[in-house]
Amino acid sequence: MLTSAQFRSVLGHFPSGVVAITGRDASGMPAGMAVSSFTSVSLDPPLVAFLPGKTSSTFPVLARHGTFCANVLAAGQEDVCRALAVSGGDKFAGLNWRPGPHGDPVLDGVVAWVGCTIEAVHEAGDHHIVVGRVDDLSADTTAEPLLFFRSQYHHLAAA
Ligand SMILES: Cc1cc2nc3c(=O)[nH]c(=O)nc-3n(C[C@H](O)[C@H](O)[C@H](O)COP(=O)(O)O)c2cc1C
Repeated sequence: MLTSAQFRSVLGHFPSGVVAITGRDASGMPAGMAVSSFTSVSLDPPLVAFLPGKTSSTFPVLARHGTFCANVLAAGQEDVCRALAVSGGDKFAGLNWRPGPHGDPVLDGVVAWVGCTIEAVHEAGDHHIVVGRVDDLSADTTAEPLLFFRSQYHHLAAA
């Protein structure tokens, strides 16, 4: 019998980056959540996706606005990830950012950002699969990424 602990443990062996999904609430205030479930989907048309849990309070806020910005966190941005992984409160109080595509926050110091319009939201068990059409994007080709593996943060090792 498959337990949720087993599922989490084994799937935690899949290494990923960490992405801050940001957007704005109805009053224009920044909103966001940390995810490891971010991926490119299609080149033509340009699509990406992330998977928010159905209990997320942030995703419905972003969905109402219809846009989001995916910020790929850099090595050393563990504190940014933690700030956005809590539920409730002013998550952006200690964060520096500027308005990016659609006014959605582009966080200072990220490796890359991808500004999107929500194209589709699919049901998938206790999560949604959110597909975003890419409107604009940029990368810092010198920055190193933050990695997540076996429930811990990691940095790239020098070759
Ligand atoms: C490294 C890391 C990766 C995460 N990945 C996801 C994810 O892919 N999907 C998700 O729904 N939550 C993920 N979370 C948890 C969310 O960040 C957190 O539950 C959410 O922001 C709760 O706040 P909310 O109620 O404002 O949405 C992750 C957290 C961390 C620390």
